Amino acid sequence: MHRLVLVVVMSLVSACATARPLVIAHRGASGYLPEHSLPAVTAAHMMDIDYIEQDVVLTKDAIAIVLHDIHLESTTNVEQVFPARKRSDGRYYALDFDLSEIKQLSLHERTDRQGEAVFAERFPLKPTSFEVPTLQEEIDLIKGMNSSRNKQVGFYIEIKSPKFHRQAGYKIEEVVLKVLRDNSLEGKDSKVFLQCFDAETSKLLSTMTDLPIVQLVGVNAWKESDTDYEQMMTEEGLAEVATYARGIGPYLGLLLDESGNPKNLKLIEYAKELGLEIHAYTFRSDQYPTQMGSFEDFVTLFHQQIGITRFFADQPDLVKSYVQPKN
Ligand code: G3P
Ligand code: CA
Repeated sequence: MHRLVLVVVMSLVSACATARPLVIAHRGASGYLPEHSLPAVTAAHMMDIDYIEQDVVLTKDAIAIVLHDIHLESTTNVEQVFPARKRSDGRYYALDFDLSEIKQLSLHERTDRQGEAVFAERFPLKPTSFEVPTLQEEIDLIKGMNSSRNKQVGFYIEIKSPKFHRQAGYKIEEVVLKVLRDNSLEGKDSKVFLQCFDAETSKLLSTMTDLPIVQLVGVNAWKESDTDYEQMMTEEGLAEVATYARGIGPYLGLLLDESGNPKNLKLIEYAKELGLEIHAYTFRSDQYPTQMGSFEDFVTLFHQQIGITRFFADQPDLVKSYVQPKN
């Protein structure tokens, strides 16, 4: 390891020693149950992690539902229930369905465009009795379990594809904030993070609410939004993010090169100097470079060498056991 890299690593190690690691159940405990199903949320809650993530899109009747994609076919049986409702691109958009129709669908483990399970060893790829939940239903569940279990598990809400919604005449950020307000979850003491890939929407959110915002950082080639993530991952770009966000949420691949060595360490250090938290995604025990050793080795590298203290995880119980020592 280069001497400069070593110096940066050591300073990050000392910084991470003082921050309490947080574990975020990514799409619920999605490594064990179909993502964003209420059983996956229930399981995550029982793992006593810090936050449960909700990806949010809208229905035709402007109801906030918890779904990762703007399309339905990767995680539901929409093709069987409403075969004629695809658009010319062959896809089934949540925005084309009322909530009453979406409630007729059943969730399944994530599939690719060929209908194969994305994660072969996860929950069996069969129809389930699990529905696509509304944001309200998920809030009710987590609040209820916080009460019955005397816990304070937080909400970590991603506004999905805001420009897509806006072009169709919907202001998804306003819908989500209204749901939070209606549930007394928009105050300064609320345990809620908002996250978005689209920088313009993140900035807009910062003018609409005092809730902390995490600016997600992806890869331009994904075309997740119009945001230029290469520019964002510069000193100038990070300084701009620090004007409106509590933290950044980088893709793991931005922090590790192909040989498994940490990269962008100076930028991560700079982000911390700006006061930005680093919420990295996504830790998966069934999808990581196994030449790097065990999953625990992999997580520990990010924690101890790169200084990550906020972890999105599909197997949050495992990550918790690695980064949060038992009381
Ligand atoms: O929200 C953090 C991370 O979830 C972003 O990636 O695609 O899983 O929503 P994605
Ligand atoms: Ca997400």
